[in-house]
Amino acid sequence: MNVFAKDNNYIASTYGRFPLEIISGKGSLCYDREGKEYVDMGTGIAVNTFGFCDQTWIDAVTAQLNRFQHVSNLYYSSPCADLAELLCVKTGYKKVFFSNSGAEANECAIKTARKYAEVKKGKEYYNIITLVNSFHGRTITTLSATGQEVFHKDFTPLTEGFIYANANDIEDVKSKIANNKVCAIMFETVQGEGGVLPLEKNFVKELSKIADEQDILLICDEVQTGNGRCGKLYNYMNYGIQPDIVTTAKGLAGGIPMGATLFNYKTKDVLKAGMHGSTFGGNPLASAGAISIISRINDQLLDEVNAKSEYIINSLKGAKGIKGVTGAGLMLGVEVEGDAKKIVNECIKRGVIFLTAKTKVRMLPALNISYELLDRALTVLKQVCAEEL
Ligand SMILES: Cc1ncc(COP(=O)(O)O)c(C=O)c1O
Repeated sequence: MNVFAKDNNYIASTYGRFPLEIISGKGSLCYDREGKEYVDMGTGIAVNTFGFCDQTWIDAVTAQLNRFQHVSNLYYSSPCADLAELLCVKTGYKKVFFSNSGAEANECAIKTARKYAEVKKGKEYYNIITLVNSFHGRTITTLSATGQEVFHKDFTPLTEGFIYANANDIEDVKSKIANNKVCAIMFETVQGEGGVLPLEKNFVKELSKIADEQDILLICDEVQTGNGRCGKLYNYMNYGIQPDIVTTAKGLAGGIPMGATLFNYKTKDVLKAGMHGSTFGGNPLASAGAISIISRINDQLLDEVNAKSEYIINSLKGAKGIKGVTGAGLMLGVEVEGDAKKIVNECIKRGVIFLTAKTKVRMLPALNISYELLDRALTVLKQVCAEEL
């Protein structure tokens, strides 16, 4: 049985996969079983921060693998402590909780917000405002936080206590705060799965001001936007705000599952011993991988991310079949006149892997992709967009 048949037979049918099997990769190139080469513009949805099989990352992870692969969180181990210190020093946050995915990082933030409000204001302050069109994960609670009906309909009853306000509509947020007992506001600075839509700067600043005035926690979901993706270490830094909790995952450990929830001075000691935990959270391999990634996200790299972002936007400007580009840094959505899914399928046939986000072609290339490979990918995209009208 080939992999397509075996997968269809034995793997739960939750994914609509493209007809592509990757068997190896290096940097921003990867290969299928027939030896065909592809430029990877998706990095496994913003996970392979420095591309496939980055040597520095492999060395860090294998060095840890030769020491020990796992210890329980009942004991101390330095990889996760070193990583937490690195994240705190680079961001100014005070403490970190480690988990294994974006959804878990958000679950931790939600639990923290409810506990914080219970102690400060009372148990009835359990509501969390999230935004219409947001995406926060697929567990029942993060699904409930997600402001998209399409994800809700098959899984009711949802977790109680999520209220959806319109993005970039501060009056809507204010009225929802006035009419409900609210403990937190949770948002992505760029709605990734929602269509690569950045929030307006003024709206985010106002959110932060209101949250601060009313002691409502501000939770920034940086699962997709974080770890250098949008041209700063975390994209809240582009908005001049300091959320009370920042969540991240995806590119954090460069390809090993890891989530992190960062707490500021207000939230760092809300969760006490026994209130939360994770068997694999802060796993030594994931921590070693993440140290290798986060320690290399410096100003020089971030300048390159921003320069490449501008380069892509300029290269696509005015191209036939392309209406515009949204997003930030190397998290970009291309508004196309044709059908995004068809365009992505055709690009794969021609050796370039893009993603979709709603009706857009999405790109999330490795932060260190070369201009030469960017050119190759953009040439194919422009050709296909011009043809697929
Ligand atoms: C903004 C955001 N939050 C949360 C998640 C969920 O992350 P995970 O799939 O690692 O649970 C995603 C995944 O796409 C995301 O983009």
